[in-house]
Amino acid sequence: MRQPLVAGNWKMHGSRVENASLVSALLDLVQPEKRAEIMVCPPFPYLLETGRLLKDSGIALGAQSVCAEAQGAFTGEVSAAMLKDAGCAYVLVGHSERRQLYGESADLVAGKLMAAQSHGLVPVLCVGETLEEREGGQTLNVVSRQLEAVLSVSGVGSLAKAVIAYEPVWAIGTGRTASSEQAQEVHATIRAKVAGLDATIGGSVRILYGGSVKASNARELFAMPDIDGGLVGGASLKADEFARICAGAG
Ligand code: PGA
Repeated sequence: MRQPLVAGNWKMHGSRVENASLVSALLDLVQPEKRAEIMVCPPFPYLLETGRLLKDSGIALGAQSVCAEAQGAFTGEVSAAMLKDAGCAYVLVGHSERRQLYGESADLVAGKLMAAQSHGLVPVLCVGETLEEREGGQTLNVVSRQLEAVLSVSGVGSLAKAVIAYEPVWAIGTGRTASSEQAQEVHATIRAKVAGLDATIGGSVRILYGGSVKASNARELFAMPDIDGGLVGGASLKADEFARICAGAG
């Protein structure tokens, strides 16, 4: 039995004042004791304070990225140990915005995943195809290759303590969502691929869908057999919308 997870990726949004009102509204609206686990990923400077606001709420804290190196002269980077120290339980790795805008390679993503795990953080490994790749019929190949590229470095065992997020690039921030059938096809392929390497992990790894998840489409997406919750960007900044998405996973 896989516990659904709904994760809010705040991206580069918010301020101390805005975060405080978002969290306070979330605490009123969401019921983390329900079946789904809930997590939010604020920008680095707000992790500590958001963690304090969430204390004892049952809502987990995550970061949006992590350095693959343990420590040292890496100006501008944030280590897994620091994230753990700041109260994070999760961290996103390989988000398409990191891959596309900041040139993160599969090897780097694998390094980040392993760095996160070595400090007890649960990485959320993001994969997904571009519109061109989907239209060229390459979706399943592309996603499989992205997964293989990371697993060839980290090993399938790394997925025993990781979450996968399928996020079609064309659906991120565009208002265009994959249909539940489109998403399910990819999720089932990912699960079969992992199960082919390790049947137990294939059955237990949680695979989230991300890309314009909203209250109006969440329930249908989350009802699919291989969709175990969502990674939510824009809609996670609106407390009522995010709460309704979370309810859709419960
Ligand atoms: P979106 O972003 O929900 O705004 O499409 C999802 C994500 O990038 O994780």
